[in-house]
Amino acid sequence: MSQLIIRGGRRLEGEVGIQGAKNSILPILAAALVTADQIELRGCPRLRDVDASVRILQGLGCTACWEKNTLLVDTREISGCAVSDRLCREMRSSAIFLGAILARCGQAELSYPGGCELGPRPIDLHLSGLRDLGAEVDDTGGVLHCSAPRIEGREIVLSLPSVGATENLMLAACGAAGITTIANAAREPEIVDLQNFLTACGARVFGAGTSTISIEGRRPLHGCTYTVMPDRIAAATYLCAAASAGGTVFLRGGREEYLSTVTAVLREAGCSILSDGNGIACCCKGRLSAVRPVRTAPYPGFPTDAQAILMAAFLKNRGATVFEENMFENRYRHVDELTRMGADIRVSGRTAVVCGVKSLHGAPVCCTDLRGGAALCVAALAAEGETAVREICHIDRGYEDIARDLRFLGADIVRTES
Ligand code: UD1
Repeated sequence: MSQLIIRGGRRLEGEVGIQGAKNSILPILAAALVTADQIELRGCPRLRDVDASVRILQGLGCTACWEKNTLLVDTREISGCAVSDRLCREMRSSAIFLGAILARCGQAELSYPGGCELGPRPIDLHLSGLRDLGAEVDDTGGVLHCSAPRIEGREIVLSLPSVGATENLMLAACGAAGITTIANAAREPEIVDLQNFLTACGARVFGAGTSTISIEGRRPLHGCTYTVMPDRIAAATYLCAAASAGGTVFLRGGREEYLSTVTAVLREAGCSILSDGNGIACCCKGRLSAVRPVRTAPYPGFPTDAQAILMAAFLKNRGATVFEENMFENRYRHVDELTRMGADIRVSGRTAVVCGVKSLHGAPVCCTDLRGGAALCVAALAAEGETAVREICHIDRGYEDIARDLRFLGADIVRTES
C-alpha cells in the first residue's frame, strides 16, 4: 500500500509547474467522441480519472495513446454506445459521457454513477435536461437507457448551476437540430475550456462563463490540437501549502484569475501574492491572521474543492476562522484526521470553526476523499515531526504527483510502498 511520509516544519522555497485541469480534461475527453475525428490533447494530467475516461473511450471502440503529457485520441470508429457498469463506477463523472454518446449515436446506455465520498451525487438535472431535448430516458434495473433518434434544440433551464449537467447538455446539444440554450448554466472556467475546445473543433457555442450558453447543433465537427487549461485547484493546493508551512513559492503556469476568491482569502490572512502571465508568486511569513467566514458557492464563489485545503492552511491561524460548506453534504470528513494532528475544529452542520492552535504534531492519518487527502498533506507541512498519509489512492485521482510537486517547492515528502 502506498503512503506519503511528510516531515513538517520546513519553510517552502521553490517553483513548480501546474498540471492541466482534471475537471477540464474529463468533459473534453467525452467531447472528443462528438467530433468523430483525431484529437491531440496537450498538457493532459496523468491521473486515475483520466485513465478511467480513456478506458471508457476504448470500451466504445476508440483508440488512445499517450506521449508524455499529450494524449492522442481517435474517435472516428466506434463499436457501441454502452459503458460498462464497472467503468461507470470507477469514475463518478462518467455521467458526462451520456450527452456525448447520445449526440454521436442517438442512443446511450450507462449505469448510474452512484454516490461518492462527498455524499449523494444525483444526476436528475442531467436527465431532465436530456428529456427536454427530446431524449427518452428509462432507468429500470439501475441502468440508464437513453434514446433519441432525433434530438431538438430548445431552451433548458437548470434549477441550480450544476457543472456536470451544463457540460453534459452542451455535448448533447452538439447533436441536436437547431439551437439549444442552457439558462442558469454553471460558470466555471472549465466550462469555458470545454467551449474553447468545441469551438476549435468547428462547433458554434457561445456564452460559457456566463449563465446563458447557446449551442448551434449538427455542425460538421473536426479534430484539433488543444492545450488543456491549468488546474486551479492544484494551484490553490500549492498556495495553501506555502501558507501553511510559510515560505516563498512560484507556480509556473498558474492563473490567478481562476482562483481569485482563494487568493483574496490568503491575502486577507497576510500572504503576499503577485501574478502575471507566467504564473503566481506567493510569500507567506509567520502565522496567518483569522479571516472573515469562507463560504463555498458555485463559481465565481469560493470553490468547494478548495475548502479542505484552505482549512488545513488555517489550523494555526491567530484567532478563529469560520468555514461554511454549501455545495456537498459530506465535505468535512477530513476534520477528524486533522484533529489527530492537534487541530481544534468544531463542526456543526454545514459550519466548521477552526480555532488556531500554537502547534501541530505529525500523526498517522487517512485520506477520506481527494481534496481532504490533499488537505492532510498541507497540514503535515506545518506539523512537528513525521506524518504518514495513508489511502492516497484518493489523492491520485486528482494530482499527477503531489509528492514530486511539493518536493519542487522544498518540502520533505516521500512516497513509499509497503
Ligand atoms: C464538479 C466537479 C467537482 C466540484 C463540483 C462543484 C468535475 C469533474 N467535478 O462536480 O470537482 O466539486 O463540480 O464545484 O468537474 N446536483 C443535483 N442534481 C444534479 C446535479 C448536481 O442536485 O443533477 C447537486 C449536487 O448534489 C451538488 C451540486 O448540485 O450539491 C453541485 O454539483 P455539480 O455542480 O453538478 O458538481 P459535479 O459536476 O458533480
